[in-house]
Amino acid sequence: MKKLGVLIFVCLLTEILAEETGVELLQIVFRHGARTPVVTYPNDKYQESYWKNYGGFGQLTPTGMQQHYEFGQFMRQRYSDFLNESYNRERVFAISTDFDRTLMSAYSFLASLYKPEGEQIWNKNVSWQPIPVHIGDSKVFLVQENCPRYQELTSEVVKTPEFVELNNKYKPVLDIANKESGFTDLDLLKLWKVADAVTIEKMFNLSLPDWVNKYYNEIKKSQDLGFNFDYFYTEMAKLAAGGIVNEMRKNIEKKIQTNSAQQLFLISSHDTYVASLTKLLNLTSHLKQPPFASSVILELRKSKTSSQYYVQVYLKNNTLDEMIDFKEVNIYGCEKLCPLEDFMRITDSMVITDYAKECVKKNTKINLYNLTFISAVVFALVISFVVSVFSIISCRYSLKRFQYRQGDL
Ligand SMILES: *[C@@H]1O[C@H](CO)[C@@H](O)[C@H](O)[C@H]1NC(C)=O
Ligand SMILES: *[C@@H]1O[C@H](CO)[C@@H](O)[C@H](O)[C@H]1NC(C)=O
Ligand SMILES: *[C@@H]1O[C@H](CO)[C@@H](O)[C@H](O)[C@H]1NC(C)=O
Ligand SMILES: *[C@@H]1O[C@H](CO)[C@@H](O)[C@H](O)[C@H]1NC(C)=O
Ligand SMILES: *[C@@H]1O[C@H](CO)[C@@H](O)[C@H](O)[C@H]1NC(C)=O
Repeated sequence: MKKLGVLIFVCLLTEILAEETGVELLQIVFRHGARTPVVTYPNDKYQESYWKNYGGFGQLTPTGMQQHYEFGQFMRQRYSDFLNESYNRERVFAISTDFDRTLMSAYSFLASLYKPEGEQIWNKNVSWQPIPVHIGDSKVFLVQENCPRYQELTSEVVKTPEFVELNNKYKPVLDIANKESGFTDLDLLKLWKVADAVTIEKMFNLSLPDWVNKYYNEIKKSQDLGFNFDYFYTEMAKLAAGGIVNEMRKNIEKKIQTNSAQQLFLISSHDTYVASLTKLLNLTSHLKQPPFASSVILELRKSKTSSQYYVQVYLKNNTLDEMIDFKEVNIYGCEKLCPLEDFMRITDSMVITDYAKECVKKNTKINLYNLTFISAVVFALVISFVVSVFSIISCRYSLKRFQYRQGDL
């Protein structure tokens, strides 16, 4: 009897695993492609003017454009049975942060995904058609630096034993970086300001100073470690990616409820969003800095034999000279092909709809008020003490003088 039960269970399981499903909606969150440094250290010989041919700091390079163009080509092939070849505004919606490099990455991606064919060819000399990319608002993209609660959590992270220990371990690099770079306040979280520039300079085969060459691997590693501390608490990842999760869930619900034509929802963003989303959905056990043009891809799938929906997630993680690497992953606590109800239940606590509310400081607010109140009381007490002592003394003094004068007269 038991054996039969197990057999039926195994059969059911294989049937579920083998269930044929088709893609209904594709949601892509990616990091922009390769760029020039966004910042460098004061003593670097390659300051912003060095990059002027690319437009200065933080600009997408031709390599970065190519990365996203190839990503678009890859997706065109991979989803040829699903994505219509022609562009149609009801099927495609793209948003981006308001940066040159993210906007240009989105354009490069869409250029190869929707090459004009047939009626859409508007100029036979140009194998490209304009596709709108909208600026995502602050309900989707949180700027961590503007969120007091995020700042508060960061100040807690730097006090954790984990951070203190690693910061000590990296002391030799930090010491030399603080001596040589022109910065004097570098810790493991701030070392990225050196790391970002030198890793890109190395990509461009530029000669680096000896101290950078000597500690290059440690400097580079500090960026991965930094991302771990940037999202050390799940709440930190939620603050960064909760708006995106909310957007993705709304898109899924809308697709199912209205049976809309939408096929593709694109979010062009930064390493911070790809990393925080990866952390929030718990897609990997070792969070690292997401490489240029890396991506989290979310498919909404539907059974071909029933009305069951699923969510399937992939990570795209290729480095510059490698083939595009598309890896099936699972959201922690769910199968790779995650039934939609489970996906919704798991992500319920990850959603942010009101950043203004979520970004209020939790702990120090009360302490700070208390502190101000206590200092005010202490200050008042001290003042009144001084005033009374002074008046007592001066009263006595004038009394004495009065008596004296009296005598004198
Ligand atoms: C494209 O769109 C039409 C409906 O407009 C649909 O019939 C067709 O199957 C779609 N898919 C592909 C891959 O072309
Ligand atoms: C395409 O390019 C040729 C050669 O430069 C030019 O003569 C022609 O006018 C162009 N066609 C359009 C539609 O712009
Ligand atoms: C840097 O050098 C490598 C190896 O010599 C070469 O393949 C690469 O194209 C160079 N990169 C740049 C940006 O010059
Ligand atoms: C994330 O996944 C790891 C295993 O990879 C697990 O130990 C951890 O508890 C998970 N965290 C959350 C918040 O689900
Ligand atoms: C992405 O690729 C890099 C370099 O190959 C590797 O170190 C890292 O572990 C990969 N990350 C994931 C999430 O697979």
